[in-house]
Amino acid sequence: MRASFQPALLWAGGSFPEPAVNAPDPASPVASAAGDLFSAPSPAERAQALRALLQHHAHLYYTLDAPQIPDAEYDRLFGQLQALELAHPHLRTLDSPTQRVGGQILDGFASVKHVVPMLSIRTETDTEATGAQSFDTRIRKELGLSEADPAVDYVAELKFDGLAMSLRYEGGVLVQAATRGDGETGEDVTHNIRTIGQIPLHLPAQAPKVLEVRGEVYMARSDFEALNDRQRARIAAGEKGEKTFVNPRNAAAGAVRQLDSGIAAQRPLSFFAYGVGDITPVDQGGPLFNTHHELLMTLKNWGLPVAEQTACVQAASGLVDFHQRIGLARDALPFDIDGVVYKVNSLAAQRQLGFVSREPRWAVAHKYPAQEQLTTVLGIDVQVGRTGKLTPVAKLAPVFVGGVTVTNATLHNEDEARRKDVRLGDTVVVRRAGDVIPEVVSVVMDKRHGDAEPFTMPRQCPVCGSAAVREEGEADYRCTGGLFCGAQRKEAILHYAHRRAVEIDGLGDKLVELLVDANIIRNLPDLYRLGLSSLAGLERMADKSANNLLEAIEASKQTTLPRFLFGLGIRHVGEATAKALARHFGQLDGIMAASAEQLLEVDDVGPVVAQSIRTFFEQAHNREVVEQLRACGVTWAEGEPAERAPQPLAGLTFVITGTLPTLGRDEAKDKVEAAGGKVAGSVSKKTDYVVAGAEAGSKLTKALELGVKVIDENQLMELLNGSA
Ligand code: IVH
Repeated sequence: MRASFQPALLWAGGSFPEPAVNAPDPASPVASAAGDLFSAPSPAERAQALRALLQHHAHLYYTLDAPQIPDAEYDRLFGQLQALELAHPHLRTLDSPTQRVGGQILDGFASVKHVVPMLSIRTETDTEATGAQSFDTRIRKELGLSEADPAVDYVAELKFDGLAMSLRYEGGVLVQAATRGDGETGEDVTHNIRTIGQIPLHLPAQAPKVLEVRGEVYMARSDFEALNDRQRARIAAGEKGEKTFVNPRNAAAGAVRQLDSGIAAQRPLSFFAYGVGDITPVDQGGPLFNTHHELLMTLKNWGLPVAEQTACVQAASGLVDFHQRIGLARDALPFDIDGVVYKVNSLAAQRQLGFVSREPRWAVAHKYPAQEQLTTVLGIDVQVGRTGKLTPVAKLAPVFVGGVTVTNATLHNEDEARRKDVRLGDTVVVRRAGDVIPEVVSVVMDKRHGDAEPFTMPRQCPVCGSAAVREEGEADYRCTGGLFCGAQRKEAILHYAHRRAVEIDGLGDKLVELLVDANIIRNLPDLYRLGLSSLAGLERMADKSANNLLEAIEASKQTTLPRFLFGLGIRHVGEATAKALARHFGQLDGIMAASAEQLLEVDDVGPVVAQSIRTFFEQAHNREVVEQLRACGVTWAEGEPAERAPQPLAGLTFVITGTLPTLGRDEAKDKVEAAGGKVAGSVSKKTDYVVAGAEAGSKLTKALELGVKVIDENQLMELLNGSA
């Protein structure tokens, strides 16, 4: 986590230059600050250099999305600055990156009187091209232009769906952030706004003495989804007072109005600048900019985020094109917009046009069709996903929202459905934004009449009738009839056929899709009843491939107990657990009949896994499928319940990389696991041994970096024999 105020960005790898604090690149913006470090820098000089360096990297990371150092390096420098400031509190400045972390808790918000009021813009509700045309016509008229006069230059911007914010910089330092409020007086939310990594705490020297940057604070869609996922997990874990957010705008507004900036820091916010308020130039010379576009580009150069879609266009046709182009791209944008904004580019023309009531004549917001609409709930269905997850879905009276007709909207899970309390006949707000599946946002309680019951989740799978269970700490109900359930057919067959399960070569997802959709295979035993004639009619299935498939199916009959067990797709029973179960019980019947207590005796099997195995075999349908598979000729060598084999590798974690001289990768893995060891996919500090063969690559490098012990196949064999 980068200094714990924004989610870390994955570092793509590669090698990193030494931190510039030690050896500044003379061309870097921090060189001058760090330059005199070579002659025994004072704490003040070190703090200043670190601040400059961290600001430089924060800008690369948050605003340009092009980090040059890994997160850990940033965190290390950050820690140095924090330590310095702790030892010398007088060195802590308002614009220090350490001030972003949050932690300040207020009793209430102070009022801020805006020196230049924060106005709103007139909204053009005609969402068609004519909406743009009438704005251009009006501007030309107000400016006294005739048809013979040239086209008017405009800047076309996005209308961000967040909250307006005024950022006040004095002497280049962010001193205050205020909400719009009623336009005259807003609230001081500086403590929260400082946590937004994209907002510079500090502007370059050429910036005006006083500058108010006006813009929008918003939450990106992916950040919003991730935040709600975290919130749902908290609710499921029983944390009190937690809730999910209705949309990114509300989530952003909630974060900005937190009294505790520590909470705000955990709600990832972003910012776009779109104008200025109060401004006092450094020297009282002429105007700093002549056009709105120049103004935006200058803000951008000073490190403020300006949306890349911002465009200079001309005449009504330019506005119409922009509106249409953004309309098409809208769903794919990483954040919500509710329209576009057109602004007359020339600042002189803006002054000439002036204001009507509280709105500038030189700007207009041009809307798009809404992404939220009202409709009625016709019913609540429960759908079963490929993996057995049950999802309540509201069936809706068809409604046109976000550009499509919506008839279904997800209610996510039982808790969400209950929290929203959606009932049959309710009037609800439906939202469809971007590619996100439509969802019910809320119920309009005033419109509820009738006596529909609250929703309850069925305890039986609506597709196959097997028990539906919700495990502790989980939000979802799942069908336990994995092998039998029609909804899970494809997934169950694919899993069973997997290379590491019973392995049916050539039976991939395309083919399973075909076979199931054509109703040729309904369940696992059907696989063993396939004949050439049933495959003949299938698309892209030549005789040769049909024969190959039948051969592979035949070959899969000879399997092993762990593979078969893993292939059944019991929830929480992965390969390692399947092997442990097979070793412990020796025979399938023993596992099927085992009580939860008996299952708990197996290594690595905890209460959740034990319960899951029990529930699976309690379903008569699942037992029936197992019997049929055996009847079809699927066999394996059964053993005696294990005298526990010696476990010389118990408690050790291995990573296997490269080509070993004699053992295949899977074979080596089996041996390690049979001896009680674990095999992991990647190297970490927790790895005990890396077994490296020929052409071992990055995992070996990582092991050497971390000082993890590296051994070869021979040394592995010695460990296995207990002789090392
Ligand atoms: S300009 C004097 N530009 O829309 C003009 N506003 O009613 C001031 N908004 O609350 C606003 N995107 O927060 C402007 N590109 C944009 C905008 C934008 C969103 C919001 C703004 C304000 C409302 C205007």
